[in-house]
Amino acid sequence: MRCPAPIWRAGSADAGLIHINEAPSVATSLSHMTPAELIARYDGRVPRYTSYPTAPHFNTAVGADAYHEWLQSLAPASPISLYLHVPFCDRLCYYCGCNTGVVRREAPRRAYAAMLERELRLVAGLIGRRQTVSHVHWGGGTPTTLPGDCLTGLMDLIRTSFVLSSDAEIAIELDPTALPADCCASLADMGINRVSLGVQDFKPTVQAAIGRIQSFEATEACARLVRGMGVAAINLDLIYGLPFQTELSVAETARTALRLDASRVAVFGYAHVPWMKRNQSLIPEAILPDPQARFEQRAAIGRVLEEEGGYLAVGLDHYARPGDALADASSHHRLHRSFQGYTTDAAPALIGIGASAIGCLPQGYVQNATSVPAYSAAISSGMLATARGIALSPDDRLRRATIEAIMCDLEADLPSLAAAHQADPAPLLDASARLKRFADDGLVRQEGHVVHVTEAGRPFLRNIAAVFDAYLDHNEVKPRHAQAV
Ligand SMILES: C[S@@+](CC[C@H](N)C(=O)[O-])C[C@H]1O[C@@H](n2cnc3c(N)ncnc32)[C@H](O)[C@@H]1O
Ligand code: SF4
Repeated sequence: MRCPAPIWRAGSADAGLIHINEAPSVATSLSHMTPAELIARYDGRVPRYTSYPTAPHFNTAVGADAYHEWLQSLAPASPISLYLHVPFCDRLCYYCGCNTGVVRREAPRRAYAAMLERELRLVAGLIGRRQTVSHVHWGGGTPTTLPGDCLTGLMDLIRTSFVLSSDAEIAIELDPTALPADCCASLADMGINRVSLGVQDFKPTVQAAIGRIQSFEATEACARLVRGMGVAAINLDLIYGLPFQTELSVAETARTALRLDASRVAVFGYAHVPWMKRNQSLIPEAILPDPQARFEQRAAIGRVLEEEGGYLAVGLDHYARPGDALADASSHHRLHRSFQGYTTDAAPALIGIGASAIGCLPQGYVQNATSVPAYSAAISSGMLATARGIALSPDDRLRRATIEAIMCDLEADLPSLAAAHQADPAPLLDASARLKRFADDGLVRQEGHVVHVTEAGRPFLRNIAAVFDAYLDHNEVKPRHAQAV
């Protein structure tokens, strides 16, 4: 489920402090600190590390010309992934941090689909051949706000402009409260084989406070519908840190969610940034749980999912059934982190299609214009809609690999990472001196220059990764990032 550069992904990282089902290799050390002490020390604002450098460092030095060149130099034999962003919804949930807006008329929805089609043709033309595609992800917003024939037409275009690999994952985000009548037919025609259902919370008072009324029955009916189409891979999204949630109530929501038997559950901390997302001003700050309550809620959900549901913790905020590809990737150090969160997708390039969509190419990151008018203006005149981006330096690549290893594997072998990048390990080793307080607090364990994050450290993965971030002023708390705890 994934907005481009969503504000919570890997986001507000409060998590269970101590888990029973600990990952065997690293989970032996528990912190001697209380949750309150840990929160007092580590609550702050740190990036989510769905990219490195992070999106606030994208700038206009990288624009359409660079993207044009980068597309033309993609390696012919490497697969790519596609992310298509649909920034429309039938209504705006108060908590939503996605790049979306309410658009109910069919004409602008069709007009936008036509822009996606033009951008796909433009990108495929610049690549200059039918490149293999291993993953397609439809995110938003709510992708099914596009008319069914537009969705299937766009998928057909992807199939003719690219070579969709036979085992390609084709995923879509669904709002169980807003399924169009022709949804089943369109999803089947599109060849969708994974869906993410937005749930958030099942408690009626919480739902009322966040402007999202969604019964268990509607969610269950949606899960049944997609299963009936043969789609077994179902992800759920839950959020903690919302108004009126308690440790007990979120555990109850998690228990109810178990009945849906999803293969993966994402557990996001509510990112409250009303200065960026005006709809969130409908949620008064005074009724939000405090950092310690958030921390305990995250832990309570984790306990239900792991101990009662048998899920395995994956990275910062995901849970997956044993045997699920994400759980396998996590245990075999093959997990990746992208703007879509944790993924099994190992393709070296992700092409973002649509307003605000972010692409990641071997040379660096690019982001399309955020507003639909600005995006459409560029695309309709036959130009790429790149508004900003960043080219990666050798130091960025090394630090990116280190941060990804920490966020995904909970482990980073600093000398090996440097060797793999033919780089001097000194900058990583210097940065790792900042890990001392994490080690003293039982959140990391260092064996020589290999960093292991303990199970107690899992909630603080972002803070630990931040140690290696050269763009961060380590003496300053930056308000533009999401709350760490
Ligand atoms: C694009 S939406 C999901 C698809 C669909 N529009 C829906 O709402 O069901 C992706 C997910 O982002 C998460 N999300 C949105 N805003 C958030 C916020 N401010 N903080 C944390 N998670 C958020 C929710 O879990 C939501 O299900
Ligand atoms: S339906 Fe989904 S994308 Fe739309 S406002 Fe609600 S959470 Fe955000």
